Amino acid sequence: MSTLLERVKSAGVPRHVAIIMDGNGRWARARGLSRTAGHEAGARAAERLVRFIGHRLGIAYITLFAFSAENWGRPKAEVDFLLALLDRFIAEHLREFVDSGIRLRVVGDVSTLPITMQRTVAKAVETTRGGTNLNLTIALSYGGRQDITRACQRILADVAEGRLGAEDVSEEAIARRLDTAETPDPDLVIRTSGERRFSNFLLWQSAYAELYFTDVLWPDFSPADLVRAIDDFQKRERRFGAVAEVAG
Ligand code: FPP
Repeated sequence: MSTLLERVKSAGVPRHVAIIMDGNGRWARARGLSRTAGHEAGARAAERLVRFIGHRLGIAYITLFAFSAENWGRPKAEVDFLLALLDRFIAEHLREFVDSGIRLRVVGDVSTLPITMQRTVAKAVETTRGGTNLNLTIALSYGGRQDITRACQRILADVAEGRLGAEDVSEEAIARRLDTAETPDPDLVIRTSGERRFSNFLLWQSAYAELYFTDVLWPDFSPADLVRAIDDFQKRERRFGAVAEVAG
């Protein structure tokens, strides 16, 4: 991998990579394990990747889709397990995040999370505020449509209270009221496990993102797989709706 890694690094890595981590359940089933064991393995894969990106790659922003607004519909035992796992992940990595210069942000409707988890999140966001090495966003109770809906509500409140005129409602004004206001749009969205859907992830923000799908199940997704995804990304031509320059 090291030669590919060197090539990928010298060609300029994407600024923001967002990942739909899918396939924990199938990974576990294939091994005769419980779904919860699959999620635990998924957390280890996330840890491995964040460490790799923080130390080796130079990507500035990474967003992980950890718990969707729709995931509340899973059996209560699985929901409880997932939320406890994510809470623990954030709490146990806090010191490491600070030491590695990782700034944590959370997007999604945090108010729907258990109160203890809300405290973990608030503390981690505050404690890592000074991190400048890597911006890690974890999407919790997140849905793209809900994010856009909340932005509309914030706009209406600002218009009602005279802070914004109706004529000032622009793409910019909306983007500034999304949960992701502080982060640039993703350049590359990766989805694992062979599914090819957005599943309500960063809908507004991914308008011009490059998409990369792999059959690898999330717990198996390794730093080498990420490097392959970026290598693929670097071969694409991003035109943002314009035309390529034609020689002669
Ligand atoms: C999909 O697997 C994954 C999730 C529901 C998200 C949870 C992700 C983790 C626990 C990974 C850890 C992340 C962090 C930030 C610590 P699935 O259950 O939908 O798999 P399936 O489609 O094979 O059933």
